[in-house]
Amino acid sequence: MLGILGLGEGRSLISAALESKKLALKTLCDISEAACKQRSKEFDFDHYTTRYEDMLSDPDINIIAIYTPDHLHAQHVTQALQHGKHVVCTKPFIDDLKDAKALLELQAQTGKKVFVGQSSRFFEPAKRQRKDFEAGEIGELITIESSYHADHRWFLEKKWALEDAFKWLYGGLSHPVDFIRWYLPDVEEVMGYGMISANGKKAGLKNEDTMHFIFKATDGRIARVSGVYTSPIQPAYRESGMTTVLRGTEGPARQIIMNCVMRLLIKRARKKPSPGAIVL
Ligand SMILES: NC(=O)c1ccc[n+]([C@@H]2O[C@H](COP(=O)([O-])OP(=O)(O)OC[C@H]3O[C@@H](n4cnc5c(N)ncnc54)[C@H](O)[C@@H]3O)[C@@H](O)[C@H]2O)c1
Repeated sequence: MLGILGLGEGRSLISAALESKKLALKTLCDISEAACKQRSKEFDFDHYTTRYEDMLSDPDINIIAIYTPDHLHAQHVTQALQHGKHVVCTKPFIDDLKDAKALLELQAQTGKKVFVGQSSRFFEPAKRQRKDFEAGEIGELITIESSYHADHRWFLEKKWALEDAFKWLYGGLSHPVDFIRWYLPDVEEVMGYGMISANGKKAGLKNEDTMHFIFKATDGRIARVSGVYTSPIQPAYRESGMTTVLRGTEGPARQIIMNCVMRLLIKRARKKPSPGAIVL
């Protein structure tokens, strides 16, 4: 049975769990009672608590899914493992490498499963690109260019976004970096720069919102990633939210993940072009 901690993005798992034939949802948990009540009403599911301890000590719950703010993941994963639970944790798994060793050791010691909910691998364009790659369509992989550019200034409204602990290096860049590591797992060197943009400074951000990095794998292949989060973007049909280009000996493969609203607008524009509109 499943318990879900953090009911913002945690909403996505509530809806999936309620549809699942494999697992049953037992408890929703959020420190905010208002969030508990909102989700309880939305999903007509009345078993919730504001105390994480209630889920940790519930013997019926064997999996805890963690959707709290990034900087709390290490602590919440640790508590779940210490209470003998399997863990699903949304990305980024942790936001500070100093926590990595102890968590790896604890996982090995408890033998419990830890699954990082790196959702972008399961988006349809990413799955199709992977399928083509595995079928050998692009030949031998030469290099990868991946990016995640999004106007996430709305995110700065969240209380934790302006805290010292909030880092787009982990929260945002984990998506395109994961695409690189999917194709080039043996990265041995990374170099690059990050900065706080003028928009980020104005908003009061404490950590970088604009980053470019180069990766080198043990076999000598290189890749690049970039993330830009507080600047306006071009319309999505010019510049998508998340992009991964694989360049292979037989050709390239480009994967574009757009947000749903842009998809809908493009679909409508295709059906009914208004005078002067660009038909895609
Ligand atoms: N594509 C994805 O996989 C994806 C998308 C969005 C967010 N996320 C991740 O999900 C996590 C949550 O993001 P969000 O956008 O929902 O943030 P949010 O601030 O909207 O929601 C976080 C929730 O956690 C609750 N919370 C905070 N501290 C808590 C505590 N100590 N105990 C219990 N509950 C607590 C808050 O009350 C809030 O309801 C982040 O790690 C984020 O990076 C992943």
